[in-house]
Amino acid sequence: MNILIATTNNGKLNEFKKIFNFNKNIKLFTLSDLSINDDVEETGKTFEENAAIKADFYYRKSGIPTISEDSGLEIFKLGGEPGIYSARYGGEGLNDLERTELILEKMKDFQTPYRGAQFISVICGVGFKKEKIFSKGLLKGYILDKKQGLNGFGYDPIFCLNNENLSLACKSIDEKNQISHRRKSIDKFLKILIKDRIV
Ligand code: IMP
Repeated sequence: MNILIATTNNGKLNEFKKIFNFNKNIKLFTLSDLSINDDVEETGKTFEENAAIKADFYYRKSGIPTISEDSGLEIFKLGGEPGIYSARYGGEGLNDLERTELILEKMKDFQTPYRGAQFISVICGVGFKKEKIFSKGLLKGYILDKKQGLNGFGYDPIFCLNNENLSLACKSIDEKNQISHRRKSIDKFLKILIKDRIV
């Protein structure tokens, strides 16, 4: 089965490709494979709404079953921020590194037990069956007090799993893919495709 992974984020795309690679019934296409350069505004109020907006948009452009993901980091003491605004937190002008620094600054007065956070991944699939398919994965941990590691992307250098003391950016992509929020949402999504005999 051909599936479009509709994301412009290379960090996510690399993880998607590796996680899907073991399923030989699925051939993945990227937006650049299909020469789709259009962008869509994420105007939703939830991860689910944004994932659906992106999946609908790129399914209309491509005509092949399309998976889109909306993901982000929620920090409990910041009222769930950056949440759905994770990719543009602090303004469009900031890069990933500057966004991690902004979080470290906002968290500087919170001590260890009060630094809890979670990553969320919500996948929406359009074009697989009549209705949309949704799946969700969570990864719970806490915010470190400084950046660590060079792997991964986004907020990985400041996020640490509970009961560990090295950031996600210290893990290899394969190690991260075994436990990540994205791995969990993709596994659930694939289970739905298999249960409904779509793949
Ligand atoms: P979007 O889903 O494209 O709107 O963006 C999700 C944003 O959440 C990314 O740009 C990252 O800032 C953050 N994010 C999502 N998943 C991860 C992850 O696995 N590691 C680090 N940051 C992530």
